[in-house]
Amino acid sequence: RYFSSRSDSKGKVNLEISKDSAKVVHSFDIEDISKKAVYCRCWRSKKFPYCDGAHTRHNEETGDNVGPLIIKRRDA
Ligand code: FES
Repeated sequence: RYFSSRSDSKGKVNLEISKDSAKVVHSFDIEDISKKAVYCRCWRSKKFPYCDGAHTRHNEETGDNVGPLIIKRRDA
């Protein structure tokens, strides 16, 4: 039942990002990250795949507790 309702919009995490793609994937070279990179995990950012703070509103509206993935250099 859970997997048979894939075309149903209920339960979808991605509401509007690159919906014409079969799968949304981003890849970055670690060498290209200067000091810190902040990536969205709530799928609500207008700057996706980067976090723009939209998770705060999402959490307030839904009671969720999601936040970004932050990658930083140890010496930064
Ligand atoms: Fe999605 Fe910050 S906007 S995690």
